[in-house]
Amino acid sequence: MDKLALYHFLHVLSIMLLTGATFYVAANPKKHKKGKMMAITGILSLLALVGGSGLMAVMKYSWGTPWIIVKIVCWLALSALSGMAYRKSKSMVVAGIILAVGVAVYMVYFRPF
Ligand code: HEM
Repeated sequence: MDKLALYHFLHVLSIMLLTGATFYVAANPKKHKKGKMMAITGILSLLALVGGSGLMAVMKYSWGTPWIIVKIVCWLALSALSGMAYRKSKSMVVAGIILAVGVAVYMVYFRPF
């Protein structure tokens, strides 16, 4: 079994689904049961972290690497946004999703530090 491909698959799929699920809650928070959506986004968030730390182990990256620290902050923000969708404005949550995912993907491909 190709561990690298498996962790890439887990990481990218769970991030895609977490992003979609967060947009889904933001679109109409009243319509969705909070407990169920918090469970779904919580599990997806955990899978994204498992995939990311698996990638780090296979590729021998350190937790102190600056672009990884920035990604962890983006992951924390994205994970918090689904809960915030029930209290904060739609535009704030949508802007937060775009910013968090945008910065995290920028870090992967440009690695400014
Ligand atoms: C909002 C959060 C995140 C997003 C949107 C995101 C997105 C991505 C994407 C698109 C890739 C590239 C996959 C590819 O090119 O095949 C990637 C790779 C990676 N991610 Fe994340 N990620 C996030 C959070 C994290 C976190 C929290 C960690 C660490 C625990 C992490 C660690 C990694 C590693 C180590 C790679 C492999 C980089 C390489 O190919 O050299 N990511 N991520």
